[in-house]
Amino acid sequence: RTLDQLGDPRGKRVLLRADLNVPVKDGAITDRTRIERLTPTIRELADKGARVVVISHFDRPKGRRVPEMSLRPLVEALAAALHRPVAWADDCVGPAAETAVAALRDGEVLLLENTRFHPGEEKNDPEMAKALARLADVYVNDAFSAAHRAHASTEGVARLLPAYAGRLMQAELEALDAALGNPARPVVAIVGGAKVSTKLDLLGNLSRRVEVLVIGGAMANTFLAAQGRPVGRSLQEAEMHGTARRILEEARAANCEVVLPLDLVVAAELRPDAPTRTVPADAIPADMMALDLGPETVAAIEARLRRASTLVWNGPLGAFETPPFDAATVAVAQTVAALTQSGALKSIAGGGDTVSALRHAEVLDRLSYVSTAGGAFLEWLEGKTLPGVAALEASPPAR
Ligand code: 3PG
Repeated sequence: RTLDQLGDPRGKRVLLRADLNVPVKDGAITDRTRIERLTPTIRELADKGARVVVISHFDRPKGRRVPEMSLRPLVEALAAALHRPVAWADDCVGPAAETAVAALRDGEVLLLENTRFHPGEEKNDPEMAKALARLADVYVNDAFSAAHRAHASTEGVARLLPAYAGRLMQAELEALDAALGNPARPVVAIVGGAKVSTKLDLLGNLSRRVEVLVIGGAMANTFLAAQGRPVGRSLQEAEMHGTARRILEEARAANCEVVLPLDLVVAAELRPDAPTRTVPADAIPADMMALDLGPETVAAIEARLRRASTLVWNGPLGAFETPPFDAATVAVAQTVAALTQSGALKSIAGGGDTVSALRHAEVLDRLSYVSTAGGAFLEWLEGKTLPGVAALEASPPAR
């Protein structure tokens, strides 16, 4: 159920689970994407006369009131994004929250303090869920990026109030369904990043569901080493060789083509002015490390993308934070953006570093959909059921 099924929310108290867990450095918000993506839901509800009570976690205070992890600074950020005032209460349950909710008039917006200041949140304590449910008539979850957590504010409360997906949650779920649920084929998946060990389930699930699996980033070194090729001083996980071979066998059995590096850009050190060389993937010198994919590999990836209808992308292809080792990530990102803009490719990307890499390549707004979720996007790619999404489906009917 989305906001379309919510009917007329005028005068109703709507508990809106947001993800305001935004990156902060020295007290300043460094990326407002999550705030901006949340505003359509708040604006729609408030414009229709709902009394909007926004809740969120912030950071990991572990059930204690940690002043540096207060959501208080988000009041101003939210008000600026919404162009309307946002009220504040310094607790998300109990008398302070209840008084602030009672003072709301139709169309007004209130932000409550960090849900994780209460130990009941992460324990999904039924008492915490009840205390949250007392604040509202309906629940709207717009925090896809926190949907992999079975917490009181993401899971428990959805079972107590009629629950709906907000516009951001809806957009995430629709994009993900278009990527793996019911995609236009062939589907190419690009998986990069440093470690095979963090992406095992993801690689396994993808190899069963896509036609082409491209493996880049430092995790590709582990696959090369597992095939007996020398990787010099490259980052790799020696204990994962058996696992890497098993993933390749499973992919072969599932008729999934795996694209591993054909050539690599190597250097003695990871620094911007380090002298580089491009070498075949089976000839990494003993004193060097692979830091990016080479042009032949980029061309091979681009050829697969030109034949593809759908792309799912998680993880950078090289050490993109340190140019020139951003070349492969930038080149592939720009090809993806061009194919997407021409209408030939549906492209869905997400997960921590991926967003920074796409921003670095200046294509963030030229893909079909870029998810703001980190862990939730990965768990979804692993084929797992996300408790926050499942709870929306199990929620009681509207009263
Ligand atoms: C995220 O930033 O990925 C979400 O807000 C979830 O945060 P968590 O990993 O602390 O649960």
